[in-house]
Amino acid sequence: MKVLVTGGAGFVGSHIVDLLIEQQHEVSIVDNLTSGKKENLNPKARFYQVDIRSHELDQVFEQEKPEIIYHLAAQSVVPPSIKDPLYDESVNVAGTLHILDLMKKVGSKKIIYSSSAAIYGNPVSLPINEEHPIQPVSPYGLSKWIAEQYIMLYHRMYGIDYTILRYANIYGPRQTPEGEGGVVSIFVDKLKKGETLTINGDGRHTRDYIYVGDVAKANLAAMTEGSQAIVNISMGKETSLLELIQQLEAAFEKQVEFVHGPEREGDIVYSCLNPTKAAKALHWQANTSLAEGLKQTIQG
Ligand SMILES: NC(=O)c1ccc[n+]([C@@H]2O[C@H](COP(=O)([O-])OP(=O)(O)OC[C@H]3O[C@@H](n4cnc5c(N)ncnc54)[C@H](O)[C@@H]3O)[C@@H](O)[C@H]2O)c1
Repeated sequence: MKVLVTGGAGFVGSHIVDLLIEQQHEVSIVDNLTSGKKENLNPKARFYQVDIRSHELDQVFEQEKPEIIYHLAAQSVVPPSIKDPLYDESVNVAGTLHILDLMKKVGSKKIIYSSSAAIYGNPVSLPINEEHPIQPVSPYGLSKWIAEQYIMLYHRMYGIDYTILRYANIYGPRQTPEGEGGVVSIFVDKLKKGETLTINGDGRHTRDYIYVGDVAKANLAAMTEGSQAIVNISMGKETSLLELIQQLEAAFEKQVEFVHGPEREGDIVYSCLNPTKAAKALHWQANTSLAEGLKQTIQG
C-alpha cells in the first residue's frame, strides 16, 4: 500500500512507520518537526518537512497520491492547548480538514486517525466505553473531537473510509521527557539522572497506560479492519501514580524518592478506557504488561 504518515517523526508516528516499513508498505512522512525529531525518521520512508496547514502539503499529496493516511500530526498535549487554544485549533482542526480535502482531491481511500481519551473529559463511569458522553475539559480534547467529526462528515459526503483510534496514555521508547511529555518518560528520565520525582497532586490520579508497540500494532490492524469504527485503544487497566512509582522501583531495582506538587490545570483525576470494542473490530489486543513495557522504555 502507498501510505502517508503525518507526524511520522513523532513518538507514536515513528513506531507506526517502522512497522509499516517492516511489512513492506511504501511510506512517506509529513512532519514539521515542532515536537518530532529527525533521529526518529525511518530512512526507508520519504520525508517531507511540511506543515499540514501549508500549501506545500497539496504538492506532497499530488506527488505521493497515498491510498492510506495515518494522521498523527497534532498539537498533542493538554497544557499548551489551554495557553494557546487558537494554535491548538489551527493544527488539530484546520490541519485535519486540509488533509481530508486533499484526500478527496487525489482519491485516497482511508484515514486512520489518532484521537484521544481527552475527548471524554471527566469520566461519569469507568471503564469508559465509546458511548460515554463527550465532555472535554481542555481545548485539546475538543479539537481532537471536532477532527473526528470532520472525518465522519467526509465519509458521509465523499465516502472516504476511516478508523478512529481513541488512545489511553501511551508510553515507550522515543517519548520525549522535555516540555509536557508523558509522565512515564519524565519519571524514567529523572530516575536515570538520579533526580527526585514530583507527583502533581496526591498520587491517587489514575491512568490507563498502554505500550507504544501495542498502539502501533492496532494502527496496522486498522489498515484492513475496523471500517468506519471508533474504538478505544488501551489496556483497560487503571494504574495510580503511586502504583506506577512502585513498578518503577521494581524496574530500576531501587527506592524512588518523590515529592508532591500542585495538581495541573485541566488534568483528569481517574481514567481507564474499555478496549473490548477494539478487540472485536480490529482483532487486536494489547499484550505488553506495564512491567515489560517499562523495561523496554528504560532500555530506550
Ligand atoms: N502519546 C499519547 O499518550 C497520546 C494519547 C492520545 C492521543 N495521542 C495522539 O497521538 C498523536 C501522536 O502523539 P505523540 O505522542 O506521538 O505526539 P508527538 O508530539 O510526538 O507527535 C506529533 C508529531 O506531529 C508533528 N506536528 C505537529 N504539528 C504539526 C504540523 N502543523 N504539521 C506537521 N507536523 C506537525 C510533530 O513535529 C510531531 O512529530 C497525536 O495526534 C496525539 O494527539 C497521543
